[in-house]
Parts: sequence; structure tokens; C-alpha cells
Amino acid sequence: MSRATRTIGLSLPWLDEREEELVVDVLRSGRLSLGPSIDRFEELCAETVGAPYAAAVSSGTAGLHLLCVAAGIGPGDEVITSPYSFVASANCAVYEGATPVFADIDPRTLNMDPAAVAAAVTGRTKAIVAVDIFGYPSELEELQAICARHGLTLIDDSCEALGARYRGRPVGAQGQDAVFAFYPNKQITTGEGGIVTTHSEATWRLLKSLRNQGRADGGGWLEHARLGFNYRIDDIRAAIGIGQLEKLERILAARQDVAARYTALLEGVDGLRLPCPDDDDHVRSWFVYVVELPDGVGREGVIDVLAERGIATARYLPCIHLQPYMRERYGFGEGLCPVAEEKSARTLALPFHARLGEDDQAFVAEALRHALA
Ligand SMILES: Cc1ncc(COP(=O)(O)O)c(C=O)c1O
Repeated sequence: MSRATRTIGLSLPWLDEREEELVVDVLRSGRLSLGPSIDRFEELCAETVGAPYAAAVSSGTAGLHLLCVAAGIGPGDEVITSPYSFVASANCAVYEGATPVFADIDPRTLNMDPAAVAAAVTGRTKAIVAVDIFGYPSELEELQAICARHGLTLIDDSCEALGARYRGRPVGAQGQDAVFAFYPNKQITTGEGGIVTTHSEATWRLLKSLRNQGRADGGGWLEHARLGFNYRIDDIRAAIGIGQLEKLERILAARQDVAARYTALLEGVDGLRLPCPDDDDHVRSWFVYVVELPDGVGREGVIDVLAERGIATARYLPCIHLQPYMRERYGFGEGLCPVAEEKSARTLALPFHARLGEDDQAFVAEALRHALA
């Protein structure tokens, strides 16, 4: 294939015969929903994350929403979250009538700065939705301390962080309720899907009821103890998830290798900032490879040069508070979170997945160098 006709996509799931086999088993079993594959998938997720309980749901967004419902978030409440995230991190509270409050980010990790979070707490704050952006763990201990001090609920939006580690343990093992997402660009996929992990049996039981139209444990199919939702995952998707978890270690290792290769290829590029490295407390699970373009470089021009060579990129991430509906609803505007706004204008996601070839990576790196020259 000539260079001009080659295309390099942003992401690609790693699926093989194992997922096919597991899906066929479910199809032949006739148990397409509320069946044993879901239980098995939940057990495996709980084990992976180091939490005693897990409830699978139809998406990461659904999981975040259910945790907001479980926390009793409602009109008049404020929920602090990151401006530099996917909209679901804020929407989950908006669905329940709460007001999102954005705490600015740390310029190095791109996660919420705990000092900004502490400064944003008011008498109306009910919860903090931390986000482990691009798979890099948040400052969980500092955030837990803020929550303990003010009686707040901590929800960890770990949708991008399955496999990340914080202070030596998997993200999700620290006691907070966490949500992981399985859209096809994530570390593992179920097509659509997500999971909530929790250390509370009561929360787990509540989540299982809420995702299933508010049905109660042991109650009848047409008996609804509370207002619930249809946020169920089905057994077909759970089966895909089981196959994915069986090779999670291989997937994570491959993604780490791909990231290391990008870092080696791009390290010397003048003014280009690469994702922050791990340290003793934070081990990233590679979700995307996002670079920060040098000062004064026009991002749109870079995107165009790469696109001409068939290379997909994405403007990860626009600030949530500057989305049209957020401006309109809450009057947010520029200047609310200067660090996030500055980063957001300059960050760019490169093609990234477990099986991205060395050759393709070299081609991307060369094209980026050319665009910046
Ligand atoms: C940080 C973050 N939160 C929430 C979500 C929502 O997950 P889903 O797309 O499964 O609803 C995503 C997924 O894109 C995400 O990246």
C-alpha cells in the first residue's frame, strides 16, 4: 500500500476467536439477558479491580448516573468534577438536577488539582466526581480526605483507567465507588457497556435494583420498589467482556509497549509535550496517547497535514464547561478554568491501540514532525 492511500485509525479493539466462542455459547444457551455470563463478568471485574462487588451496566454513563442516584444527589446540590473530561463526568449529576462545579486541573497530570477541588467546596457540595483522565490515576487520597472532611461522596470516573494502579493497588481498590467503561476505544470492550465497582454490599444491591427498573431482591418481575432505569447489560456483551478480561494483561502490556514506542519516537521533538510518566504512586493504564503541541503551533494545520496522510487524530478534550449546552444552561464561559482551557486548545490524540504496528507509529511520528517543522 502506498503512503498516500494508507489509513491509520484512532483506535481498534482486540477481539479474536475467544470472544466469538463465548458469544456463540450465549446464543446457543438462549439466556440472552440476566443470565450467568453477567455474574461471571462481574466476578472477574471485581477481582481485576480489587473491589468486593461489581454491577455491570449498559454504559459508563449509566454507571456514573446510578452512583449519583445512589448518593442521593438532587436539585440544589453541587457536584465538583473536572472540566477536562468527557461530558458524562458532569452530565451524570446534571441528570439528577444538580449543578456541576468545575475544579481546574494540574497542568502535568491533567487530572483535577486537589487544591482547586478543596477551594470549590461550598455548603451545597454533595459529591466529587474524580476523573482518571487518559488512564492516569487521580489524587485519590487527597480527594478522599476532602470528602471525609466535608461529608461528601467520592465517585471515581475510571472509565478510561481499567488496569491503572494507585499507590500499588488497582484503581478501584481504594474504597471509593468507581466506574469503568467498555466502548470499543477503551482498554477492553463489550461494544457498549460499563461496570460499577463498590466496597459496599448495600450500594451493590441498590445498583442492581436501579439498573433493573427498580425491581427489588426477591420481588416479582412486575414489582418495582423504587424508580429505576433499564441500564442492564446483556449476556452477549458480558460474554465479550469475559473474553476481553481473559487477555487483559496482554492487552495492557501491548498498549504500554505502543506508548513507549511513541515516547521514544517523539521525545526529541522541540516543544512537544508527551504524556506525563508514571511515578511511585501512579501507574497509567494506557487509554490514548495525547500530545500537547508546542506553543504557537496551530492545531488545525497539524490535524490537516496528518489527515492528508491518512492519519486520524482527535481533539482530546474540549472543556466541558465550554460546550454550547453548558454555556447556555449555567452561563459558563472562558476563564473559568484557565489551565484546562489552555491544555484543551493544544492537546491532540494520536492513533493508539494494542496492535498498532511499529511501521505505522514511525509513519505517524514522521508526519507529526513534518507538520511541526
Ligand atoms: C472519562 C469518561 N467518562 C465517562 C465516559 C462514558 O462512558 P460511555 O461512553 O460508556 O457511556 C467515558 C467514555 O467515553 C469517558 O471517557
